[in-house]
Amino acid sequence: MSISVLVGAQWGDEGKGKMIDYLSRDCDLIVRFQGGDNAGHTVINEHGVFKLHLIPSGIFNKGGECLIGTGTVVNPDVLEDEIKQIEDAGVRMSGLKISGKAHILMPYHQKLDELMEVAGGIGTTKRGIGQAYSYKALRKNLRFEDLLNLNSARKKLEAILPVINNQMRAYGAEDYTVDFLYEKCEKWAERFASMIVDPIRYLHSYIDADKNILFEGQLAAMKDIDLGIYPYVTSSNPTAAYAAVSGGFSAKKIDHVIGVAKAFSSAVGAGPFPTEEFEGDIDLIRGKGDKPDDEFGARTGRSRRLGWLDIPVLKYTNLINGFDTLALCKIDKLDNLPEIKVCVAYELDGEVIDYFPNTEELERVKPVYETLPGWMCSTKEIRRLEDLPENAKKYIKTIEELVGTTVGYVGVGPDREELAV
Ligand code: GTP
Repeated sequence: MSISVLVGAQWGDEGKGKMIDYLSRDCDLIVRFQGGDNAGHTVINEHGVFKLHLIPSGIFNKGGECLIGTGTVVNPDVLEDEIKQIEDAGVRMSGLKISGKAHILMPYHQKLDELMEVAGGIGTTKRGIGQAYSYKALRKNLRFEDLLNLNSARKKLEAILPVINNQMRAYGAEDYTVDFLYEKCEKWAERFASMIVDPIRYLHSYIDADKNILFEGQLAAMKDIDLGIYPYVTSSNPTAAYAAVSGGFSAKKIDHVIGVAKAFSSAVGAGPFPTEEFEGDIDLIRGKGDKPDDEFGARTGRSRRLGWLDIPVLKYTNLINGFDTLALCKIDKLDNLPEIKVCVAYELDGEVIDYFPNTEELERVKPVYETLPGWMCSTKEIRRLEDLPENAKKYIKTIEELVGTTVGYVGVGPDREELAV
């Protein structure tokens, strides 16, 4: 039996979807443990190309035993569309379950997110994720288990709506009615009732049966609401320890933490990004947006901000997650660079610092770079770490030494099989 947790080690979009698809072949259950449909895991395999926003990327393996876990906020209409996308590709979906304690993302959460962004926000995806988590904290949400008792769901809606409608009016928007939302609940109950489980009993049945469980995080540690670059963060905790909270089991049971990083840095949305580059060699990495692995957001389609690999970020996310292994994706994107810069430290007010700065300081730091030689050849066909070009091995070794962990997987292309191990 083993419990593994896979999380993003930078700002998100590191390639977690592909890694989960690959690793889940040896797992009995895959659990998405936080977030909503604000991010997208890209999976490219024999069934096609998928952008999964809610369904765990392990859905393609074995019986597709997957749980959308307690720490998530789920827009049922988006889930329905995603199920359809996968079923249309001929994949059996009977193994998908939803935690009864997962929160329902309602139409008004999304509306309020849009209204707030228009009034001046932080560049959210306008999917309502932050609103759903805010109302979770205010104890004013429905959870999936409420769909199993529609009378009680109606009463809860009656109690919640006055608060919501006050907010709507503050933005000059129209009220929601209980009837409109109750009808949605009826429809969702019909569709999802058979998939709703008591997450504690469900998960512990796998633990008790000595099964292999993989928890998949969305986004990444730098976007963690508590430990990331607040306020330019997401509304949940994409760090490994939260898998235990969301899963409802002892944190001592986590056996393995896998961090996924890109071989360079990218970010979407506002916030400090010390190694950001605007032109030059970095443009070779971006692509035009016509391939799925080009540097454009899976959810937003927005062009990602790009920069060199940032070791202080990886050291920090290793500190707060404790990576047993790093998966370094997209090394193939560096194949044509004659030289590769790596930020090995930050200077703040003229001094090299040995701690990870707060958000305001991070805006002011200056990266200290080392330049390494590129390898100038294709890595795409390589499947074993020892077969990588010497300069790629040096690049990886430098990362291992500076971060203090090992690199166990190297992504050499977007496809599931394009991995050196
Ligand atoms: P978030 O949860 O939104 O943070 O996303 P993610 O980490 O799951 O990122 P995603 O799976 O969308 O991956 C980003 C892009 O990188 C996708 O287009 C993948 O197909 C692509 N990708 C993943 N690994 C590699 C790799 O090793 N090489 C190349 N070229 N592309 C890769």
